[in-house]
Amino acid sequence: MSFTVNPGEIVCLVGESGSGKSVIAFTVMGLLAKALKPTSGEILLEGENVLAAGETRLRELRCTRMSMIFQEPMTALNPVMTCGLQIDEVLETHTKLDAAQRKAKIIAILTRVKLPEPERVYASYPHQLSGGQRQRIMIAMALVLDPVLLIADEPTTALDVTTQAEILKLIAELQEGQGTGVLFITHDFGVVAEIAHRVCRAALGRAGGDGPDRADPVAPAAGLHQDADLLGAVDPSRASRRAQGRHHRAAHRKARQDLQRQCLLPEGAGREGRGRCRSRHPPGRDAGHRGRVGLGQVDGGALHRPAD
Ligand SMILES: Nc1ncnc2c1ncn2[C@@H]1O[C@H](COP(=O)(O)OP(=O)(O)OP(=O)(O)O)[C@@H](O)[C@H]1O
Ligand SMILES: [Mg+2]
Repeated sequence: MSFTVNPGEIVCLVGESGSGKSVIAFTVMGLLAKALKPTSGEILLEGENVLAAGETRLRELRCTRMSMIFQEPMTALNPVMTCGLQIDEVLETHTKLDAAQRKAKIIAILTRVKLPEPERVYASYPHQLSGGQRQRIMIAMALVLDPVLLIADEPTTALDVTTQAEILKLIAELQEGQGTGVLFITHDFGVVAEIAHRVCRAALGRAGGDGPDRADPVAPAAGLHQDADLLGAVDPSRASRRAQGRHHRAAHRKARQDLQRQCLLPEGAGREGRGRCRSRHPPGRDAGHRGRVGLGQVDGGALHRPAD
């Protein structure tokens, strides 16, 4: 499997349940269960192979260069520690800021993720906040040190539709503002259509691939294809879509259904069942190497589970 997340870009990783999306996310973060060992390939974070990094280096990279937000913040947050202190732990570990500077930085990030009454939220325990607010805490914690890569593993599926839309908007805003590269894992093709710059499909550990401009030798085997309608489906251009009214929305809905059908059909189902999905590049972004994250050759055979 090989794909790249460029700075300022949201790459959606889609694929059937069990296809290895979360395993990929955990591998990049160096959080893979001990039973699973990558045996080949490389994951480049700004040119550094994180698969070769030791635990100390990985700890340095987490939060500062790469961060992750999870589907269910309640399980990711410490229930017996206030939200403010949980973010403070990140700053204490990774910066030399004094207590007052850390507090100011935390209040600033809580404000940036649009949490009401940041002082109160700072002193709140996770159970005292709503699901959407907890997810904002996770986002604040993930982004407080401006990482170049944010991995979001189905961060909105536990939320109601309205809150989900707000969180997506927030992630897109922050990502755009900071130029963060985002690897966004989701099952929801409405979400893909809303936020993706590019789409990559995981197929039982095998190749997605990340776009026609990149030489991708595994693409044919993975059954990827390029399709103008499909591209349109993930090229929503939010503002223009609104402006073009009902007719465009209907066309968009159809394109989204096409995208869903094409990406989810099993391999071998012919052209219809094969999805390479690609859309706009972020406007004005340099798809250069700074902050580039490449994931290479972590394929089905490369993840090795020792026999019990
Ligand atoms: N800790 C583990 N030990 C052994 N196998 C694992 C472990 N974690 C995941 N797997 C296996 O790896 C495969 C991929 O799982 P993964 O959780 O990445 O799927 P996924 O694409 O994220 O699915 P979903 O969309 O349901 O979240 C599955 O077959 C799963 O059983
Ligand atoms: Mg998963």
